[in-house]
Amino acid sequence: MNYENILVETRGDGARKTGVIRLNRPKALNALSDPLMDELGHALKAFDADPGIGCIVLTGSEKAFAAGADIPTLLQHDFLSAFNSQLISKNWEHILDVRKPVIGAVHGFCLGGGCELAMMCDILYAADNAKFGQPEIKLGVIPGGGGTQRLPRWVGKSKAMDMLLTGRFMDAAEAERAGLVARVIPAEQLLEEAFKAAETINGYSAPVVALMKQLTNQAFEVPLTEGVKIERGMFHAVFGTHDQREGMNAFLEKRPANWKHG
Ligand code: CAA
Repeated sequence: MNYENILVETRGDGARKTGVIRLNRPKALNALSDPLMDELGHALKAFDADPGIGCIVLTGSEKAFAAGADIPTLLQHDFLSAFNSQLISKNWEHILDVRKPVIGAVHGFCLGGGCELAMMCDILYAADNAKFGQPEIKLGVIPGGGGTQRLPRWVGKSKAMDMLLTGRFMDAAEAERAGLVARVIPAEQLLEEAFKAAETINGYSAPVVALMKQLTNQAFEVPLTEGVKIERGMFHAVFGTHDQREGMNAFLEKRPANWKHG
């Protein structure tokens, strides 16, 4: 696929590399048009299928991660065309099918659909200039990419309502206090820090990383006791892998582990 709205590269010199996807519609602050979301889905799937890739960093530009869905496109729809074309749902959730960790690195505006996309990443790092918000209310609409569902789970009901109902933006420090992002990093160091975290993850056993991601995301979907039962079953299952023996033997022999990713 020829990408016109994203930039794609690989980083790192270890055995497993980092797939990097940059949203790239600078004139529209990376507004998430359909072509962009199609390309993003394609690039995510390609990195996920590539055994040479350990994890993925998703970022935007220094001014904006993404300022939301593409407003001129939204304006073209009526109810039936939105319903029939599955507006938002069709190509927005490919990211949820990715089995490798996706690290979101957010500079600048992260609004509306941009914030919803960021919340679908597995780890979020924010530059100190980041601004998060769900300002759909100012446009006379509600979020369509999960904003009313994920934001309360991430930051609690009261702060989510505050943001959704007033449309105000949250700065990076508040986003970290609220638990929306894992860390705030000076803007000029954000990508390097994200790449460093990615390289650390790339250095672990691939199936264990994938399982860790799957189980942690499952915490938001299943009741606690069920989730713990599933975790326990998977914990037992990893004792069937080479990498469990290797990791524990390497610890006892005080040497780096030599993972076989199996
Ligand atoms: N869609 C399309 N274009 C957008 C856009 C969007 N979401 N956000 C910004 N742009 C465009 C602007 O129209 C402008 O284009 P022109 O130069 O051609 O006029 C360009 O990006 C730069 O924007 P501004 O001049 O407005 O820049 P600013 O620095 O003054 O303001 C901003 C930045 C606060 C992010 C402001 O652009 C803004 O409020 N954008 C809209 C944010 C928004 O409402 N997002 C929600 C969209 S709806 C949604 O996402 C639904 C959903 O749940 C999926």
